[in-house]
Amino acid sequence: MMGVTNPFKVSYTLFVLFPVALILFYYVPLPFITSQIKLPYSSISTPLMVSVRASSNSSDIIEDSNKNSSCDYSNGKWIHDQRGPLYNGTSKYCKMKKNQNCIANGRPNKEYLYWRWKPNGNDDCNLPRFDPRTFLQLIRNRHVAFVGDSVSRNQIESLICMLGSNNDDNSSKPKRLYHKGSRKWNIVSHNANLSFYWSPFLVRGDMRSKNNNGPHYNKIYLDHVNERWSRDLDEMDMIVISLGHWFDVPSIYYESGSISSCLKLPQLGDCNNHHVNDFYDPLRKALRVALDSIIEAKASKNEKVDVIVRTYSPSHFQGDWNKGGSCLDDKPYGGEKQVEGMDGKIRRIEMEEVEIAKEKAKEFGGLIRLEIMDVTKLALLRPDGHPGPYMNPYPFAKGVPEHVQNDCVHWCLPGPIDTWNEILLEIVKKLVQHHHQKAEQ
Ligand SMILES: *[C@@H]1O[C@H](CO)[C@@H](O)[C@H](O)[C@H]1NC(C)=O
Ligand SMILES: *[C@@H]1O[C@H](CO)[C@@H](O)[C@H](O)[C@H]1NC(C)=O
Ligand SMILES: *[C@@H]1O[C@H](CO)[C@@H](O)[C@H](O)[C@H]1NC(C)=O
Ligand SMILES: *[C@@H]1O[C@H](CO)[C@@H](O)[C@H](O)[C@H]1NC(C)=O
Ligand SMILES: *[C@@H]1O[C@H](CO)[C@@H](O)[C@H](O)[C@H]1NC(C)=O
Repeated sequence: MMGVTNPFKVSYTLFVLFPVALILFYYVPLPFITSQIKLPYSSISTPLMVSVRASSNSSDIIEDSNKNSSCDYSNGKWIHDQRGPLYNGTSKYCKMKKNQNCIANGRPNKEYLYWRWKPNGNDDCNLPRFDPRTFLQLIRNRHVAFVGDSVSRNQIESLICMLGSNNDDNSSKPKRLYHKGSRKWNIVSHNANLSFYWSPFLVRGDMRSKNNNGPHYNKIYLDHVNERWSRDLDEMDMIVISLGHWFDVPSIYYESGSISSCLKLPQLGDCNNHHVNDFYDPLRKALRVALDSIIEAKASKNEKVDVIVRTYSPSHFQGDWNKGGSCLDDKPYGGEKQVEGMDGKIRRIEMEEVEIAKEKAKEFGGLIRLEIMDVTKLALLRPDGHPGPYMNPYPFAKGVPEHVQNDCVHWCLPGPIDTWNEILLEIVKKLVQHHHQKAEQ
């Protein structure tokens, strides 16, 4: 077990442990890199873009009940916006991971802060700016838990900063609470809690070790949900769940107590006859086990829950992996860029599993509601939104160093990940409205 009581430390370890999947170094240990890099991110043949129509039938559409229009938040374009972000990281209520505080780390170009997401739809389809008061009203007396990897943490830290940006009295600001196994915040004025559970596989698993004091591969137990978050299910009213970035590395998968398959471990004897070429089936199983566990736990106690599955967030390493891949763009891509390759496959699995889980949840009436929060396309279009070298303070203060560490996975705060929370707010509006309608019936 790693430092369970200190999620900050755990996430930091993730950062350091995963140079391959998350951050490219010049000097990444070689055996993993070769197989890693041969999986072409953008050239896996079949484009897996789900068409606008197809996704129009899914839950990422938020219909405005007063209008006959509907907005497709999962597709659109980034347009210039003078207003800029709601926060800048200097507030005492906004405590973000230092590696994502790009402004404080001296990122010179600020243009990435002045864009907003314009969803597809008719002209009156706009994504409202995040309104902290509205969000707090909607989560009054509720506990919203984020479960996932460090990108999930990235999102909740954005949310905490945005909630802390209002000018109301400090009882409406998120305040850190001590809680074993999660990072937790309480909002006194609304009796609401927010939390982050670090669980990159969602199921039980041991992360591979970068040092030689543990295996260099993940051990993932596909048929056991991770108790770290599942033991607190009773207390959760809304769960924002995600996965992906920890899967594309050497792994052993276990089912029913024995090895079911191995990824990228050609030399390991235990893996004979168990080799698989990709992680898509294991990822699907992990997500299914997580969603099934939520449905079972809540249905058995007759408790309500809203589950939001946030789709995969693409990374943007460019250039040769062994020459310090980086993300140097300083503008969003135009809409022509398609979600494809690994990004598209993971996203499609997530959409499919949400549909399957919705079917299962049907028999419990409106008790368990599932939604997809499809951010893959809007994230894909923002190569400019990552810390890149500004994951560290003033990386070029002494000239250009020999080894530049780049983060092209997480997002600067403030930055495009703030938009995810604007979409989250729209989804929560829709869900809460639904519960009220149910209650009145
Ligand atoms: C939309 O989804 C519903 C239920 O999942 C299905 O019955 C219907 O045929 C779908 N419509 C389209 C246009 O795909
Ligand atoms: C539906 O939308 C169209 C186009 O936006 C508009 O012209 C029409 O008046 C709307 N109808 C209703 C009933 O709101
Ligand atoms: C951050 O925001 C505060 C308050 O809005 C403002 O006074 C300060 O100048 C900002 N700092 C930067 C670096 O933009
Ligand atoms: C928020 O967390 C505190 C401390 O764990 C707990 O006492 C309280 O009941 C929680 N409130 C909600 C609405 O979950
Ligand atoms: C609010 O501000 C008061 C006075 O500055 C302070 O005593 C109190 O601890 C603050 N409460 C929170 C929740 O930060």
